[in-house]
Amino acid sequence: MIQQAKRLNKRSDSTTQQLNNTMNRQDEFKKVVAHCKEYGFIYQSSEVYDGLSAVYDYGPYGVELKNNLKQYWWKSMVQMNDNIVGIDAAIFMHPKVWKASGHVDAFNDPLIDNKDSNKRYRADQLIEGYMDKIEAKINKEIAKAAKRFGDAFDEAEFRKTNPRVLANAEKHAATAKRLATAMTNEDMGDLKAMIEEYGIACPDSGSKNWTEARQFNLMFSTQLGNIAGEEGKLYLRPETAQGIFVNFSNVQKTTRQKLPFGIAQIGKAFRNEIVARQFIFRMREFEQMEMQFFIKPGTQDEWFEKWKEKRMQWHTSLGHPAEKLRWHDHDNLAHYAKAATDIEFDFPFGFKELEGIHSRGDFDLSQHQELSGRKIQYFDSETKENYVPYVVETSIGCDRMFLATMSNALVEEQVPGSDNMRDVLKLNPAIAPVKCAVLPLKKNEPGIVALAKKLHKDLSFSFNTHYDDTGSIGKLYRRQDAVGTPFCVTIDFDSMEDQTVTIRDRDSLVQERVPMERVEEIVKEKVDMRKLFS
Ligand code: GAP
Repeated sequence: MIQQAKRLNKRSDSTTQQLNNTMNRQDEFKKVVAHCKEYGFIYQSSEVYDGLSAVYDYGPYGVELKNNLKQYWWKSMVQMNDNIVGIDAAIFMHPKVWKASGHVDAFNDPLIDNKDSNKRYRADQLIEGYMDKIEAKINKEIAKAAKRFGDAFDEAEFRKTNPRVLANAEKHAATAKRLATAMTNEDMGDLKAMIEEYGIACPDSGSKNWTEARQFNLMFSTQLGNIAGEEGKLYLRPETAQGIFVNFSNVQKTTRQKLPFGIAQIGKAFRNEIVARQFIFRMREFEQMEMQFFIKPGTQDEWFEKWKEKRMQWHTSLGHPAEKLRWHDHDNLAHYAKAATDIEFDFPFGFKELEGIHSRGDFDLSQHQELSGRKIQYFDSETKENYVPYVVETSIGCDRMFLATMSNALVEEQVPGSDNMRDVLKLNPAIAPVKCAVLPLKKNEPGIVALAKKLHKDLSFSFNTHYDDTGSIGKLYRRQDAVGTPFCVTIDFDSMEDQTVTIRDRDSLVQERVPMERVEEIVKEKVDMRKLFS
């Protein structure tokens, strides 16, 4: 239910966004994916064996960017907040954790197989695909009318009056309602009935020969070596949050934190997604950055609002334009949640969840208290009471953050003053994988090379620097632009004479002659993460 409920209520908004998914945006997405591979950001896992579906490896530039995003999160959540501490819990946890959290019984998606193609699908996604087609029909009518009426076209009026649009809108609403009910009630029979009634065919084979729909638990399991059977069954954690909940008392006692306080962690999570799509958006192995904020019962609404605001600010500080971010409140809540909202980002395939903020009440701590038989409570020294704290959670996927950042930053533009085009990754300098590239103007000139290598070595102590002499200066600039390096320093004949260098700004392309000894200070000031907080 955790998954089902969350996915369901995303549906209503995603329809509009899908209408806006033009070919342009599809091309934009393909470009981001190709760029990630070409420039060593992300590779398909086990590519030499034709890859492992929905699992990806981060390459040399990717790992730097991802680490910087994690560092920005850790700094702003843990190091800049006296009342938030970090932990790093193990991936494996006692199997009872997942019973208590509800994941064993309710972390399911409805799946259905096609008997002819042997392909497996999410039943709800097949029905959503059918609904997308209805939307596409509405969209087509509107596009046709807009062309016919030109400037005089009133889309709102047309939607209200055109009989074909009205009929399709009604069909869409009825399907959405029926799907929502079937999902909430876990009515597998009705999901199958809908697929048959709507004549939904297997996208792979066109066959309509379906098995029954059934629930599929998304947790990966494995076995402890020394204990056979169910007793030794372990799960790969599907969320990092539970490692925080079961450590609540340990952390509270050892750090002597008073409510309200938070525990944060960054770590891998695993979900056996039936259909994993859209590159690193939905993966089977991914990373989460989660923070559980423990509060006095009764103060949850106030903290929920505070964390919503803080988290949105975190995103905009990084330079993501406000119009690419929006809220999406959940109508149907996961079993643990009292209130939930998503920060959605306008990915190249439309607005989708980037981060979740959930008011979890005392669900998790109470469940662990009950199943473990241990007291998991907080002693409030002011009221002299013991109670189970409430929790407001912020949860963001590292990989989704990476994809949002890449797709926002990648720009194809004409090089000012030239007919040439360039791909440039306009990342905020504080998170750029490489902060400064040192480029000798002549690679066969030992004096220039030695000076460049020395500068590179010196700068490496302060930030990530690259030395490159593998091409013409134009080609070297293009490559650094493509990986988002904010500054390039060129060393030439004059540098040997007067110890000055040229420093080039990635975005403005302005080149400035500066004393070599000032490069470190100039770059350091511009790439300082502190700027993100000001
Ligand atoms: N502890 C709450 C929780 O896990 P969630 O909405 O299921 O909530 C939180 O996941 C975040 O984790 C999402 O907003 C998303 O960024 C990321 N995420 C979830 N499933 C993912 C997947 N299969 N691949 C990549 N990121 C995922």
